[in-house]
Amino acid sequence: MLLHSIKELREQRKEWKNLKVGLVPTMGALHEGHLSLIKKAKETCDKVVVSVFVNPIQFGPSEDYDKYPRTLDKDLELCNKEGVDIVFAPSPSEMYGEGNRLSNDTLTYVCPPFFYVNKLCGKTRVGHFDGVCTVVLKLFNIVQPDFAFFGQKDAQQVVIVRKMVKDLNVPIEIIQCPIVREESGLALSSRNKYLSEEGKKDALVLSKILNNIKSCYKKGVVDVAALKETAYSFLTDKHDLEYLEILNKDNLEEQKNADDNSIVLIACRVDGVRLIDNTYLKD
Ligand code: PAJ
Repeated sequence: MLLHSIKELREQRKEWKNLKVGLVPTMGALHEGHLSLIKKAKETCDKVVVSVFVNPIQFGPSEDYDKYPRTLDKDLELCNKEGVDIVFAPSPSEMYGEGNRLSNDTLTYVCPPFFYVNKLCGKTRVGHFDGVCTVVLKLFNIVQPDFAFFGQKDAQQVVIVRKMVKDLNVPIEIIQCPIVREESGLALSSRNKYLSEEGKKDALVLSKILNNIKSCYKKGVVDVAALKETAYSFLTDKHDLEYLEILNKDNLEEQKNADDNSIVLIACRVDGVRLIDNTYLKD
């Protein structure tokens, strides 16, 4: 069932009083990564809602909000195949009000703590996680799920959403699902659509760097600086590295020595497309 309005969604939600409800928040252009979240939600819950909303307030002014892929018909087909109960696809004005200037001058925002935001993607995407937390909390309040499903692909996003849920006592369990990759190793992303064939090959450098760091760690290298050093032999002038970090996976604290609780995260521009990927050092 496709619903566009909050009112209709709420009416439907009332019918599911004693059922376990799962929410999978997405921005559409669904691929196997999203579908893995939906499958997990179907396994865990009685009813599943997938939201499809390209959230304007999480895009910076020079980012790809206008050209972000919008494929609602195909998304609906995929959701129907997976047995999704409701696809919730509101308009920006349904979510943020008609004519509202989308800024924290006029809207209440949820701002996660600086410590979690001022690193990795948050460092270059200023305000991004305020936009994410704001829309995610709104979706939580609208759908009132028991469980919400997020991908490890956006590892910083999951840590921040978990922190918000804990700090604001939101009664929802956050479930993280593993990264889905192409056979080549490339992590699936809606933004892979922007890559040329050549760019897709160059993009493999992200997963190669992560795998190499992981195998060095398994051989006994723990010094974070030394582990990071190993990346440089993979990079060419086709790669514009934004960050490569090894941090504690739960609280994103810096580490001098990597351990079994470490996560390696990378962001790199390839072919003009900003790509992110990560891996835990321990499987
Ligand atoms: P979007 O990029 O559409 O991603 C929706 C969910 O799918 C996220 O939890 C993301 O981590 C997960 N996902 C994307 N690629 C994946 C992959 N290859 N393997 C596993 N999971 C994957 O993330 C967002 O949307 C937005 O920020 C949102 C949370 C919806 C708020 O607007």
